[in-house]
Amino acid sequence: MPRIVPPTSEHIAQAAAILRAGGVVVLPTETVYGLGADTFNLQAVEKVYELKGRPADNPLIAHVAGVDAARTLVRHWDDRCERLAHNFWPGPLTLVLPKADSVPDESTAGYATVAVRCPAHPVAMQLLRAFGGPISAPSANRSGHVSPTTAQHVANDFPDEHDLLILDGGPCEVGIESTVLDLSSAKPRILRPGGVNAEQLQGILGVPGVEEPAMSGPSASPGTSSLHYAPRTPAELVDHFELRQRLGQEADGPYAVICFSPAFVKPPNQPIGMPRRADQYARRMYDALRQADGMGCARILIELPPNDNGLWLAVHDRLKRATGKNSF
Ligand code: TXA
Ligand code: MG
Repeated sequence: MPRIVPPTSEHIAQAAAILRAGGVVVLPTETVYGLGADTFNLQAVEKVYELKGRPADNPLIAHVAGVDAARTLVRHWDDRCERLAHNFWPGPLTLVLPKADSVPDESTAGYATVAVRCPAHPVAMQLLRAFGGPISAPSANRSGHVSPTTAQHVANDFPDEHDLLILDGGPCEVGIESTVLDLSSAKPRILRPGGVNAEQLQGILGVPGVEEPAMSGPSASPGTSSLHYAPRTPAELVDHFELRQRLGQEADGPYAVICFSPAFVKPPNQPIGMPRRADQYARRMYDALRQADGMGCARILIELPPNDNGLWLAVHDRLKRATGKNSF
């Protein structure tokens, strides 16, 4: 198993030294845990792809300590970036911008753009400062699997990586990945819904507004294909009525049931009760998927949250991908 350590100043210094030596470390962020490497070290970035089993055409997010560091990675930092960073950084917003020539193609999978984000987690910030440069980090899960929101989730995904250092920053506060906003053309476009929603972005950017993700069809963000964020047990997303019906029939159970009213779920089915508030649901979601996956049931049934505005949109997006549907 990897080494899970508390984020003492010694361990943060050790993690920074690993990054400087071209190694990979796991850092907590407020969204999900990340598998980090020096953005400018090609071999280190290569290791991240290898460890995750990540397709080579899926670019990484460069994490920075603030606006000054972000500016050095992009071609042009305009007024929109300034306002967005001022309002949402540190926080769950990733900006996609034309990259500076100094950013290696390897860390952007050959894209002419780079994704930058300043994370709102004290341990991530301490590590960024101790290291003194940008850290490229995808979510610290095996490619296609459920994103990790605790140090233990990461360890479970990489049981054979005995040298992998995991800084334990506790359970992630937001629990769902950052919003990826493409600012590389005139009209801002959300490539992946996340912790900051379209209304919040509109409020800062004003007219002509923000384009929301397509309701169906291929996404412009290469890492958002269907069957991303997926548990290993077959999972289905059903509305409340279908859930009651399925529980009555039990044709292909037993089921692990992620739902709002666990009292309806009777043995041999196993319930996981979820909060009705979007922020609390998001924080709990990936752990619930992993827990359901470990129950030894034939199927996972997930009750579709009735609401799809604000943060619920991001929740719906991940649940649909976890169940293999990439259209809304
Ligand atoms: O909250 C998060 O964003 C977490 C934490 C660790 O920061 N990171 C994360 O990374 O979710 P990852 O690699 O699992 O997802 C990054 C997403 C992918 O969908 C990727 O395709 C997209 O951002 N992305 C990265 N660079 C891009 C670029 N230059 N153009 C378009 N999409 C990009
Ligand atoms: Mg990911």
